[in-house]
Amino acid sequence: MTPTLSSIAEQLQQAGQSHLLGFVDQLDESELQSLLQQIAYLDLELVNQLFAKHGDANNPTSLNIDTTSHHDIMPPVALRLDEANTPSGVTRSQALAEGERLLRAGKVAALIVAGGQGSRLGFDKPKGMFPIGPVSQRTLFEMLANKIDALQRNYETTIPLLIMTSPSVHDETVSYFAEHDYFGLNDSIDFFCQGTLPVVDSRSGQILLQSPHTISVSPNGHGGLIEALVADKLLDKYQQADIEHFFFGQIDNPLSPTCCPELTGFHSLTDSAVTLQAVAKQDAQDQTGNIVQMDGRIQMIEYTEMPTQLAAQTSPDGKLNFWAANIAVHIFQTSFLQQLAQDPTALPFHTAHKTVSHIDHLGNQIHPAEPNAIKFERFIFDALSVSPKTTVIEADRNLVFAAVKNQASASFNTVNTCQQAISTLHRNWLIAAGVQVDMNITVEIDPCWARNAQQVGERPDLPQTIKTDIFLTSASSTAR
Ligand code: UTP
Repeated sequence: MTPTLSSIAEQLQQAGQSHLLGFVDQLDESELQSLLQQIAYLDLELVNQLFAKHGDANNPTSLNIDTTSHHDIMPPVALRLDEANTPSGVTRSQALAEGERLLRAGKVAALIVAGGQGSRLGFDKPKGMFPIGPVSQRTLFEMLANKIDALQRNYETTIPLLIMTSPSVHDETVSYFAEHDYFGLNDSIDFFCQGTLPVVDSRSGQILLQSPHTISVSPNGHGGLIEALVADKLLDKYQQADIEHFFFGQIDNPLSPTCCPELTGFHSLTDSAVTLQAVAKQDAQDQTGNIVQMDGRIQMIEYTEMPTQLAAQTSPDGKLNFWAANIAVHIFQTSFLQQLAQDPTALPFHTAHKTVSHIDHLGNQIHPAEPNAIKFERFIFDALSVSPKTTVIEADRNLVFAAVKNQASASFNTVNTCQQAISTLHRNWLIAAGVQVDMNITVEIDPCWARNAQQVGERPDLPQTIKTDIFLTSASSTAR
């Protein structure tokens, strides 16, 4: 039913958000109806509650995990890189064999979150459409699809791909895949759209207007995926299709080890509800979440919420005690996702202070130079607090992590650092296989040509020397 102006006005007045109707006199009928629909969709009580609880970033009670009494925070029990088996005795070769078995049997799906706004990168399309291949200029979406294609060929299987979008990127993402014939994945992709929450002024808690008839909203965080999966009945669909495990990854890490057989195998053989891949922190200031053990269970503490003295604590050999960085590479048991789906709104909210353009009460466009607004987000890793069993497996950062988040002027997670990481990794695979590669050239390998160092070594068409930038791909090896 279309909401009436008077009923909406009353709700807004009760919630102290009447300014949202400040421009109704200037709107035409369709703009007014659109605005009323947007307001009707809002949970005004929730927004006000969240602002009351989280509005003050300096108030420790606004943190989701109380790190102020941190005597029981410890580094996580984990399989470290130099160890041969998990504490429960699962070896690397057993894990690989199990993961390969699961992939061949079609028990694994990939769940990739791509609903973010990518505001730091400043790209005006969905982030997944960013051309990142250092030689090929393949987009993040294309690189993801190629990884799945390669695994499907290797294991003669189908790996369903679920891509989470948000309202502002959904249509463009779906059209992009359609225009590219789904990069050969055709029937096995599901796109599903997460929800949004309004953006509020960080001092007053008032919901911001983007224009006289548009409310400023942002996606509700990657933790919004549970609610979105439930809304589209996707968990039921894949449970019925016998999918036992979901790989979880983020679209902005082209080295993310999508459906990695070894990781999947460890997850399965340890009977874990969640498995987290961790990498070693580069230093105490590393801007990645901390995987820790707290109250006897594995949990995540945002780097912004980790007490500085804990982050900097070292052991006698000088290494960081809290070494485990979260790179958002996880595997979930389908049954655990179903458990979370029983109450998809149970995950707590976090706040992010962002710089958001908006209009003021006179209708003037405001482009703040400093963070002026609060966005509310759920994070998927908060599900760890109810995970019956969580396993942590360390990986070599150079093999699995090259996120693209920031513009070129930043010192880390830029397009440049990401492309260099891909090229360095692929060059090292070639050198290990005996190929002479000139130092100053850029190399890139299509996973359908080789997914890892071992497969590079097995290529019958391995070049002896490489002297120009090259993209090694199945069709032909393309020099650029
Ligand atoms: P980030 O936290 O890096 O956010 O997301 P972002 O939106 O990509 O970039 P900024 O912060 O605006 O610059 C990490 C991953 O989680 C996804 C993103 O698409 C990215 O893959 N994500 C984030 C969602 O799917 N939904 C969200 O609401 C937030």
